[in-house]
Amino acid sequence: MNCPYGHFSMRDMMKRKKRKIYIFDTTLRDGEQCPGASLTADEKLQVARQLERLGVDIIEAGFPAASPGEIEAIQAISKEVTKPVICALARMVSQDIDAAREALKYAKKKRLHVFLATSKIHREFKLKKRKSEILKLAQQQIKYAGQWFKDIQFSPEDASRTEREFLADAVWAAIDSGATTINIPDTVGYALPKEFGELIAWLIKKIPGLGKKISLAVHCHNDLGLAVANSLQAVMFGANQVECTMNGIGERAGNASMEEIVMAIDTRRDLMNVYTDIKVNQIIKSSRLVSHLTGLAVQPNKAIVGRNAFAHESGIHQDGVLKKRQTYEIIDPKRIGLSGSEMVMGKHSGRHAFRERLVKLGIVLNSEDLNRAFERFKRLCDQKKYVFDQDIEAIVEEEVSKIPETWKLEYTKISSETGVVPSATVRLSCRGEIKEASSEGDGPVDACYKAIEKATGIEATLVNYSIQSVTSGKDALGEVNIKMLVNGKEIGGRATSTDVIEASVKAYLFVLNKVQMHQGGKSGLPI
Ligand code: KIV
Ligand code: ZN
Repeated sequence: MNCPYGHFSMRDMMKRKKRKIYIFDTTLRDGEQCPGASLTADEKLQVARQLERLGVDIIEAGFPAASPGEIEAIQAISKEVTKPVICALARMVSQDIDAAREALKYAKKKRLHVFLATSKIHREFKLKKRKSEILKLAQQQIKYAGQWFKDIQFSPEDASRTEREFLADAVWAAIDSGATTINIPDTVGYALPKEFGELIAWLIKKIPGLGKKISLAVHCHNDLGLAVANSLQAVMFGANQVECTMNGIGERAGNASMEEIVMAIDTRRDLMNVYTDIKVNQIIKSSRLVSHLTGLAVQPNKAIVGRNAFAHESGIHQDGVLKKRQTYEIIDPKRIGLSGSEMVMGKHSGRHAFRERLVKLGIVLNSEDLNRAFERFKRLCDQKKYVFDQDIEAIVEEEVSKIPETWKLEYTKISSETGVVPSATVRLSCRGEIKEASSEGDGPVDACYKAIEKATGIEATLVNYSIQSVTSGKDALGEVNIKMLVNGKEIGGRATSTDVIEASVKAYLFVLNKVQMHQGGKSGLPI
């Protein structure tokens, strides 16, 4: 059903009933204040472009008084990024406001954000000003700014620790002097959700027009891990703008994380009668760009954008998700720009997930082979934390293709001392016959490989060699992966052992045994 006048679709009408929450992104200002996160002008521009694609309403692009470079960066953003409002932060001093004027002079839509601390502790120890002086300063500077800015946001810093009546006085003074948005910061992340929600409700009741004609924002820090909860509570109680950063970066423990706020609103639309205009399919891209440019890694278990946010390892969970994704996922990972859920193959994985992974790898096994491969996979999981696709392919190759061990290792003897050319003796058996040879080499592995070539008489060239430890500690298992060119064909070999020389030799013999199998061993001779 559409609007009876034909103006709006049903969807629009539903949306209209909901209140819009404006997303004010401060990744480039508060986020950049995060230790070690500072960005060059070009990097800031890259982030701003992506924030525009993401659909944020306001970008706080920086603090112009910080440096001439900061002014130039904000100017560059203002020239190019035109859909969102571009905002700059200033203290309540005319030099800061002038710097913001300069920084925003090219912006199509601009906002000035001024702040002044109001809490007792900040007044007495930081500003050394009485309440009346704070009010006067705020009024003076907002009026000064009003000569050039129509859109002015005022933040009473440390609002959540400010005496309520004085906070209302400061907010009222700011509105009276020309502020069009009031932002309530929980500067030190001290508030609890119930308390913060009540503060917002109290301010709305106390100050007419707040949250309506005068926009009401919140800016929550994460010192108690409550920044998102506090922001959502404020939204429930009438705030219509949320300040946040990508990946939750920011001073100390950071700011409220944008992706969490947006996806909470999106996912719980049954309870929250609000919406944002964020294009959620840009979330992962934005998160990765910010992490890459700031050098701040996203913790693996971070909600929405962490590497593990859609990864399932437990067999029960994997089975559930494979049967119906929603059993263990409340968000479709594809909506936020991921390719899908991830099944981490490890010791908790079950047969269902293992079979699915084989299918993805293009391997179809009968049930007997599947059982054997699965048992082998489980044994490998006890040795290795993560089992990768190559491991699974190798298991199938070794276990199911059942490569006969034509060439067997009896022993290797290595002599390697500093300053002396390494040498090795390798003793192998082939169908009951012993073959032994010695050789020198560039290193112990090279010496062994040359000795094997002599002993077997099979020409083989090493194309690729890699070694990695698959367990931790002094007795770690070393896994050797090689590629060898035999009879004009590249063949892969792999072996594990606590002794890396033994693993290297066995990987080589694995290649020879594969060749032997493919040749059918018809002649009865080793190739
Ligand atoms: O945390 C804070 O109080 C701020 C203000 C400048 C809004 O970042
Ligand atoms: Zn802040």
